[in-house]
Amino acid sequence: MKQQQAIPRSVEWNDTYITLLNQQKLPNVTEYLTLSTIKDVWDSIQTLKVRGAPAIGITAAFGLALAANTYEVKTIDEFNQLLQKDRDYLASSRPTAVNLFWALNRLTNSIKNVSSVNEAKTKLTHEAIRIQMEDEEVCRQIGEHALSLFKSGEKILTICNAGSIATAKYGTALAPFHLASEKGIHLEVYACETRPVLQGARLTAWELLQSGVDVTLITDNMAAHTIAAKGINAVIVGADRITANGDTANKIGTFGLALLAKAFDIPFYVAAPLSTFDVSLPSGELIPIEERHEDEVTHLNGERIAPEGIHVYNPAFDVTPNHLISGIITEEGILRGDLSEEINKLFN
Ligand code: MRU
Repeated sequence: MKQQQAIPRSVEWNDTYITLLNQQKLPNVTEYLTLSTIKDVWDSIQTLKVRGAPAIGITAAFGLALAANTYEVKTIDEFNQLLQKDRDYLASSRPTAVNLFWALNRLTNSIKNVSSVNEAKTKLTHEAIRIQMEDEEVCRQIGEHALSLFKSGEKILTICNAGSIATAKYGTALAPFHLASEKGIHLEVYACETRPVLQGARLTAWELLQSGVDVTLITDNMAAHTIAAKGINAVIVGADRITANGDTANKIGTFGLALLAKAFDIPFYVAAPLSTFDVSLPSGELIPIEERHEDEVTHLNGERIAPEGIHVYNPAFDVTPNHLISGIITEEGILRGDLSEEINKLFN
């Protein structure tokens, strides 16, 4: 059994502040930020210092608990008014990953029956910590289920970073690779660099190397050639929001990989916790797709690479339709076949 190197946690609760691994600076600089205000938390989510659906939810939950602990009010009504305002503020940091809204709602629901302001503060903090602890266990379970799909020696393609630093620990799409490394099972991972902000090149490559996983980096436009030339066996990706019929929003470029998987007749898997499902939306065209600043496309490392004045379209996510998905790997097991029916069974 291989000794897995410790992968840093992306977020930590420290009572009066949050410690955050600055993912913007990786892999060259390992910097930890101290977030002590709700504005720090909003800014860290918006500017991708923390990113990845579950990690965004955990950070926002900690941010709301942090803010609530500073309220100097006497009545629960006054407390709830401030909490609602701060909840809405944090909810405006990014639109696509549903884990953000899921975590914030879990916090506000956790204090429905409290009788004092102090009790509310304690409950919010405990709920935020619980969300992080549960996510670690959930990711481990996703990893075990996902690992059962792969045989030693297989080559698997992924995009973005659905890894340990995008969650409480282990990750979703990367969890099987961390577990395989722990168990001495050899899997070969191909990581798409993930333009425009390079989560694959900067984060997945770094994280899997730390874990002793055999990982090879490719640029996004090498995917089709690599599937053919290297004999890729499967594609696995994370998710930001999965609707009631199984349509899945994930990092821009995911939809293209699903189409390629279909063309090459290899399985295309989505790995995600139940907190990433949004069963209030019947299908994927209703998912709000974040469009980010044009600088992400026109600049690399702060240097302009495209002419001034060029029109830019920069959607951060795309939606893969359910019929291209071979299976959705959750903590409860693997959903296959009629995804609408399977999701309906799981949530009702
Ligand atoms: O813009 P990002 O980096 O937050 O996008 C992240 C992704 O698309 C991930 O694949 C997804 O959130 C799953 S993370 C376990």
